[in-house]
Amino acid sequence: MPIIYDRKTRTFFLHSPRTTYALEVGPLESLLHLYWGPRLRGGDLRSFVYRGDRAFSPSPLPKDRSLSYDTLPWEYPVYGRSDFRPPALQVVFADGDRTPDLIYKGHRITAGKPKLKGLPATYVERPTEATTLEIDLVDPKSELKATLSFSVYTDRDVITRSVTIHNGGKSAVTLNRVLSASIDLPDADFDFLQLSGAWARERGIVRQPLREGTQSVESRRGSSSHQQNPFIALLRPGTDEAHGEVYGFSLVYSGNFLAQAEVDQFQTTRVQIGINPFDFSWRLEPGDTFQAPETVLVFSADGLNGMSQVYHELYRERLARGGWRDRERPILINNWEATYFNFNAAKLETLARQAKKAGIELLVLDDGWFGRRDDDTTSLGDWTVDLKKLPRGLDDLARRIHKIGLKFGLWFEPEMVSPDSDLYRAHPDWCLHAPGRSRTTSRSQLVLDLSRPEVCDWVVKTVGGVLASAPIDYVKWDMNRHLTEIGSAALPPDRQTETAHRYMLGLYDVLERLTKRFPRVLFESCSGGGGRFDPGMLHYMPQNWASDNSDAISRLQIQYGTSLVYPVSAITAHVSAVPNHQVGRLTPLKTRGDVATAGNLGYELDLGSLSASEQKEVRNQVAFYLHHRKLIQFGRFYRLLSPFEGNRAAWMIVSRDQKQALVWNIDVLNPANPPRHFLRLQGLDPRRDYQIVGTPNIFGGDLLHGAGLPVPQQTQDFQSTVWELKAAR
Ligand code: DGJ
Repeated sequence: MPIIYDRKTRTFFLHSPRTTYALEVGPLESLLHLYWGPRLRGGDLRSFVYRGDRAFSPSPLPKDRSLSYDTLPWEYPVYGRSDFRPPALQVVFADGDRTPDLIYKGHRITAGKPKLKGLPATYVERPTEATTLEIDLVDPKSELKATLSFSVYTDRDVITRSVTIHNGGKSAVTLNRVLSASIDLPDADFDFLQLSGAWARERGIVRQPLREGTQSVESRRGSSSHQQNPFIALLRPGTDEAHGEVYGFSLVYSGNFLAQAEVDQFQTTRVQIGINPFDFSWRLEPGDTFQAPETVLVFSADGLNGMSQVYHELYRERLARGGWRDRERPILINNWEATYFNFNAAKLETLARQAKKAGIELLVLDDGWFGRRDDDTTSLGDWTVDLKKLPRGLDDLARRIHKIGLKFGLWFEPEMVSPDSDLYRAHPDWCLHAPGRSRTTSRSQLVLDLSRPEVCDWVVKTVGGVLASAPIDYVKWDMNRHLTEIGSAALPPDRQTETAHRYMLGLYDVLERLTKRFPRVLFESCSGGGGRFDPGMLHYMPQNWASDNSDAISRLQIQYGTSLVYPVSAITAHVSAVPNHQVGRLTPLKTRGDVATAGNLGYELDLGSLSASEQKEVRNQVAFYLHHRKLIQFGRFYRLLSPFEGNRAAWMIVSRDQKQALVWNIDVLNPANPPRHFLRLQGLDPRRDYQIVGTPNIFGGDLLHGAGLPVPQQTQDFQSTVWELKAAR
């Protein structure tokens, strides 16, 4: 049984194949965290909880100074009852009281994994895939109930957590902080890892030793953001890609989040993740329930690759949904960097014909096809085709592209409105704004107020109308600014701080309805590149444009960092022109192709401007990708050498049966007269021999792990090598 309740010790054991997570109903019916780490057989862990008198740590029992809320390892800590560490829950009751007690009231263990109301989450297809433990904690005075939900996957080393808060009392309660998870670890011997960056520099790996006090990452931008990703990991010092213990915390949410670790006075660590309490509150009426997002916890004793592989498989197979989840994704040509706003039907058809010759499968028409959108200052919200550019309309264009032999995709930015648009002129109060204040634009646009159901209905109707009007196979769903003046004309003054979360609920509802109504459409998420590359969006859209930075060398870091949590099938990567439009760098076409073939491959350049030999090279890249697509998109990914730590990046993808592998090595600068370099591989079968395809060399898997693959000396900067390995027997 994955979840066992030991009545004698009042301990819950949550067992995944290689990990255990344990909780105890402790003194005063408190719910305490006992253990998370390598799998245990069971046992009595209660003495691991510290009991003893500590100065300045108050005691709830006047006669027992060995018991203090300030030193207990709470599973869901509250504010006010003398635990001075950060709470997971902060509330204000109608009488001004802010100090709930959460007392264990009961639990249920059930097969399967329930859905989260209104929020994206991982799921099961059969009840046998997971077991769920729900624990009710109730505040006796107010009847406020927190139900903690833990699901353990039967065949994956994953524990998911979420929380609902139910107001069982007679007056409204204000929730100021409802985190999804809080875990008290007994020591602080960790590094803190985060994925931080900026536009065009998303998800850089930042790792530093944990220290006393709080280390945190958060978004206050109304979106998960380019700047921080809703993910942190704690690693034992010395942990690398292949060895060592790592704890991963990933939040299935696309809005403001907080992820933090606080090391307290006794060197214990409280890790927390959830909706950012900043500018958040929620009025919970009697009888109402608030659902907090899901967090996905992964412990690996096999280094960062071990953790990433668990996330990759779960997010690919049981977070992403829809018909495209398990299908190989098409190679696309996107017209954005080829034409920007300057296109017409003839240009697009030419691009499609050139793409067809190269073996590309899908043409994506990017920004500028609607309203009067000749630049980025106008027309968002007016989703009617610009007949100046496309005189015969979208349906005709889509059919022509189909006739050429490509699928047809279309760009939208449905959450936005340009002040210069018919939509804004008709509904000036449909955007987020604060009464009596100017409305801050970013990229000349405002954000539609998706906390309002009628605005969501309008988006579904309008986008749905376009999708129904033409044979559209793919949608790129973009979002090019963050949220400011986060207020809603539809909410009363005391509920304005609900707007940011209500916006997310509205967006998820829109995505739920559209993806259900158009199940055959492949949806790709985008936010000025990878500004909303998070598990929440992946639930609706199985792939994400990783960054507006298409330079192959910049992409080494972006894709490497992204792979910490997200699978290759979710990461789109395009070959673009040189000099690169974002950084001006000149890189060989081969390197651009090699880097992009490590994701969902696409092209984003004027294919007509390439020389005959370059066109041939593109054809070869496409053929290579088609040949290996299944392995690349659905194989097991191993990071080998970090571009954050040296002059080269390397990674590999291995088939499930370990009979095939691809290995990438990219050297950034080419040093003169360098030492020899051997790339030590991972994930092969040490008992097998592998042919290095295209060479006479056959090496044992053990040798490739132990001694490595000799890397050829490069002849110039920015060169790459990709090896194909095939089991020789
Ligand atoms: C930002 C996206 O990331 C780009 O790929 C492109 O679609 C532009 N928006 C269009 O405005």
